[in-house]
Amino acid sequence: MAPACGHVSYMTGKDTALLHRPPAPEPREKPLGAISLLLALRRNPLTTWTRAHFEEPILHGESIIGSVCVVNDPAGIRHVLVDNAANYRKDDLTRRLLGPGLDGGLLLVEGDTWRMQRRVLAPLFTPRMTARFRPAMADAAQALVARWDRQREGRRIDVAAEFSRVTLDVLERTIFPQGLGRDPGAFIKAVTEYFDTAGRIDPLDLLGLPDWLPRLGRRRAAPALAFFADAVDAIIAKSRASLADDASPHDSERADLLTLLLSAADPETGAGLSEHEVRANILTFIGAGHETTANALTWTCYLLSQNPAWRARAEREVDEHLRDGETPGPDDLPIVRAVLEEALRLYPPAASLTREAIHADKIGKERIAPGTRIVVSPWIVHRHKRLWTDPGLFDPARFLPGAREKIDRFAYIPFGAGPRICIGMGFAMQEAVIIMANVLKNFRLDPAPGHIVEPVQRVTLRPKGGMPLILHAR
Ligand code: HEM
Repeated sequence: MAPACGHVSYMTGKDTALLHRPPAPEPREKPLGAISLLLALRRNPLTTWTRAHFEEPILHGESIIGSVCVVNDPAGIRHVLVDNAANYRKDDLTRRLLGPGLDGGLLLVEGDTWRMQRRVLAPLFTPRMTARFRPAMADAAQALVARWDRQREGRRIDVAAEFSRVTLDVLERTIFPQGLGRDPGAFIKAVTEYFDTAGRIDPLDLLGLPDWLPRLGRRRAAPALAFFADAVDAIIAKSRASLADDASPHDSERADLLTLLLSAADPETGAGLSEHEVRANILTFIGAGHETTANALTWTCYLLSQNPAWRARAEREVDEHLRDGETPGPDDLPIVRAVLEEALRLYPPAASLTREAIHADKIGKERIAPGTRIVVSPWIVHRHKRLWTDPGLFDPARFLPGAREKIDRFAYIPFGAGPRICIGMGFAMQEAVIIMANVLKNFRLDPAPGHIVEPVQRVTLRPKGGMPLILHAR
């Protein structure tokens, strides 16, 4: 399919009056005091940042949660995530926040264990494998279209829940071909509950208090964790049975997540992954692979519902270039892609990447002591005054061919960077373009009267209370 850039007019600087400034908490003038900070971090970490965070290249200070260095300068981000990445491990807070379900999985492991797991799983995410998943992603998008076709015209739907369902469906049709062992609705409920409870920052964790002190959120997350444990057992049992029938696991044509995990062997020791690591990775890939992309699609639909001019451009591109039966690649629809990338800038699903310095170091001129907590926050960096023109404005033109190449690699980090960059980046972009193209071709989503949209950070950045929009057939 030929790129569509030549046929569709782009927004110019003169049109900015038409552009929309989507909701975000107003930065504070002064930092919060100790108790207010703990409460705000639990309620919504996005509300804790001050004006200085969006204006200064680096902020380093002591607070009730210890020594924290917020790095916004692209060179500093490159230093932490790439050049000296070996000195920065995932911090204790990330570990405590995600630990109960994901500890031992690719997102949280370090050192040799991480290297082995990443090497084992990389074959599932090569560009060739990702391209092979296109038809399955298109089938999942078509199933969504068929579901929405059955809805009454003008009905209010929660697109956040709808996209959770379709991204889970994509995982089942691609990296979990043996199925997830449970009803998708029940799975989505458990994932949402888990992130809503375990995913809230607990003041006890922030203060570094010992694990034996009971955390409310963790107790509330217990039913969701029990549900996952049960589902994972069913998935593993099914996969072991098909492996026993000799699935020739290293045949890349047949690779799937479970087969790779169960048949992994260290080249030196021959040791495989433990049962615990296999389980943690199943949950990691379900958690990291579906909530994030669902949030990106949700914010994209919301932003387009507020921006009829950009919606019309995206619809025109899809109408002209997506013929029936065709499945676009991520680069085939540059306007749809630009809209998605702008949504990932304004509402990055992974809003904060946190690390802990192992040894003393310097980030630029800043001295970093061992144990310092380093925050690289896509939320801040993507809205930083020194890095973006009018950062609060929704303007997908920033990501159109010609402009996209001028963006500093380390000023735009929705998928992170360096060795720990998101393994599913290509997968997610392809999936998001395919689903958005199908939505745009068939439906128009309008704002739901009376609903106030508020972004909150709960592991991922999501709209509080879902995202109701009004569904119309096109
Ligand atoms: C729009 C969608 C997505 C976004 C914004 C996103 C974002 C991220 C980010 C920022 C990281 C790095 C975290 C850090 O450095 O601390 C990451 C890591 C990861 N992501 Fe994604 N992700 C998305 C989709 C996916 C998908 C579809 C999958 C799998 C199917 C996935 C699996 C993972 C895994 C396993 C890691 C850990 C990689 C490692 O540490 O080696 N993600 N993701």
